[in-house]
Amino acid sequence: MSEQVIYSEKSDQPIILLGYMGCGKSTVGRHLAKQLVLPFVDLDDYLSEIHGRSVPNLFLEYGEIGFRKIEKTALDDLLASAQASVLSLGGGTPCYADNMQSVIQSTPYTFYLSPSISTLCHRLYSEKDHRPMISHLTSEDNLQEFIAKHIFERKLFYEQANHLLYIQDETPQELVDQIIKKLG
Ligand code: S3P
Repeated sequence: MSEQVIYSEKSDQPIILLGYMGCGKSTVGRHLAKQLVLPFVDLDDYLSEIHGRSVPNLFLEYGEIGFRKIEKTALDDLLASAQASVLSLGGGTPCYADNMQSVIQSTPYTFYLSPSISTLCHRLYSEKDHRPMISHLTSEDNLQEFIAKHIFERKLFYEQANHLLYIQDETPQELVDQIIKKLG
């Protein structure tokens, strides 16, 4: 029996990946969905699609608070149409309004992907200009300090996930294998 059949027989609930920007939610989510033959939704891409603008442009147009409202509505819509799928959240999604509570109530399959701060910093520095939360930071040291503080504030939410994956140098496939094992 394939992994997809095993998963779908057990559950019509989504598998939800969360964590800080650059933690690999989208890459791992895409691989996981492919392997389980499930639909994949990346919340940022979904927002861009329904609003016809990129995430940086949504921030420019509506500001961060406006973006969080749009993000919450989209999350609630996706959770209401719950089905067997893989959903990757935005880095800030779990940390606003009652989003994390809604996420936890919708499925027992929530995974926090947590690489080290230096790995995140290394991944994010070259792409920071396209990321509204960190585009103002001018040096790698500033970025590292910002990420450390930001994760300290956010991990209260992230750590409510049912499964915590502390990532070292695993490949996306190795992480997919770890997640599949935890689906039981
Ligand atoms: C954000 C993370 C981004 C995106 C937006 C805000 C954040 O998503 O939603 O730029 O507040 O951490 P990714 O984590 O998918 O890059």
